[in-house]
Amino acid sequence: MNGTVLRVLLKRLGSTGWQERRGDQHRVRERKRKLTAPIDNIVIAGAGQAGGRAAEALRARGFQGAITILGEESHPPYERPQLSKALLHSADAPVAYIKQARDWSDVLNVRLETGAEVTDCDAGRRTVSTADGRTFAFDRLLIATGTRPRRLAALENSGIEIQYLRNVEDALRFRQSVQRQSRIVIVGGGVIGLEAACAAAKNGCTVTVIESEARLLARAFPAIVSDIVAARHRSHGVTFVFGATVTGTAPNGVRLSNDLEIEADLVLVGIGVEPVPTVAERLGLPSMGGIAVDACGRTAAPEIFCAGDAALQWSRCHGRAIRVETWANAQNQSISVAANMIGEAREYNDPPWFWTDQYDLNIQVAGDMLDAEHVVRGDERSGKFSVVAMRGSEVVGALSVNAAKEMALLKRVIAANARPSRADLESPAYDLRTALK
Ligand code: NAI
Repeated sequence: MNGTVLRVLLKRLGSTGWQERRGDQHRVRERKRKLTAPIDNIVIAGAGQAGGRAAEALRARGFQGAITILGEESHPPYERPQLSKALLHSADAPVAYIKQARDWSDVLNVRLETGAEVTDCDAGRRTVSTADGRTFAFDRLLIATGTRPRRLAALENSGIEIQYLRNVEDALRFRQSVQRQSRIVIVGGGVIGLEAACAAAKNGCTVTVIESEARLLARAFPAIVSDIVAARHRSHGVTFVFGATVTGTAPNGVRLSNDLEIEADLVLVGIGVEPVPTVAERLGLPSMGGIAVDACGRTAAPEIFCAGDAALQWSRCHGRAIRVETWANAQNQSISVAANMIGEAREYNDPPWFWTDQYDLNIQVAGDMLDAEHVVRGDERSGKFSVVAMRGSEVVGALSVNAAKEMALLKRVIAANARPSRADLESPAYDLRTALK
């Protein structure tokens, strides 16, 4: 999203504080002065993958001032994908730390404060405060506080064991349940629910997935792929209930909205994520289901940037601003934003991309697959094919099933806004590199 779009978006949404300040010429001059002032002190709120990669990038680009990362968790920054994959399947799988704890200080000269939840911010004084009462001053602030699981209110304090899957402790707890061969109800047939179902089913658990939509992964997958995924799970003994949710407990498990009762020892909830609101609220930044940023990661406040899951950024493929809740975005957008924090002007426009591994299926999705015409490349019965999403002559999305090499090219086609014809795409012999010339 460019600066103009960001300003129009904020105006349309009637943001308060920032819009009022915009007309105040004195404050505008003041902001300009601050932005040209030396940057001695960068604070990163959030010690996830985006926060960690941003700190690394600042040093890699020669920033010599102080960098402080404040993270709520007790861990140094780590990557999350393996929490619902390797970590559930093997007791030997290591946590994917970006660096060992001591290397943040010893190698990068970064002050990493774990167990430090940011609870307050003051944009005027340029300070953030943590739950334990400490205050940290900044010249530039990066908000990388990510997202947290949406809670299932119907089961909170209901007596049945309820689990979520977002951090290392969650993953280790769920792995223990899986190893006990529990009867598990999983609420949500999205990426988390299904990767968890895969681990549980492979370990001999009794698994029932409750999905409120009529099919799996409806947020990102076309129906033909949802059906393939469902069939693969069923062949491993997983049961599905569609068009329903969990409304409470039953004597030996849970009760569903369609009055079914399912026996369960525990419930794993994977019904999506929501931004952690604290920082944006305290700074008076408009909350629009995420913190609006332009393509450089700038928020409406000039010294404050945002990266990772929390950022609401323009997506050409979707034709709207979205939060990009993926490993790739946390990894790469944060690096661009870090460069911009110290004076570069580097736009990040990569199409969103994620993958999921379930049984023998590696499925990758780039761009937007919804509200588009679908062109299948290859034979879906072969177990190896891709689906390209087109709106008019524009390729807006792609999904590959066990076809990673094809996906690598399709990502480039989308990023380059290349325009292969539908007829070309329908031909499996068509070399996608032709579209890139
Ligand atoms: P999700 O949005 O992918 O799936 C949530 C599912 O729960 C949807 O199918 C939805 O229809 C369903 N649902 C919502 N409310 C419900 C209710 N009350 N009852 C029953 N079903 C309900 O979110 P998920 O699976 O929780 O994943 C969380 C985050 O992790 C996402 O942001 C996802 O993108 C991210 N993730 C990223 C991966 C990657 O980049 N490789 C892999 C795995 C997860």
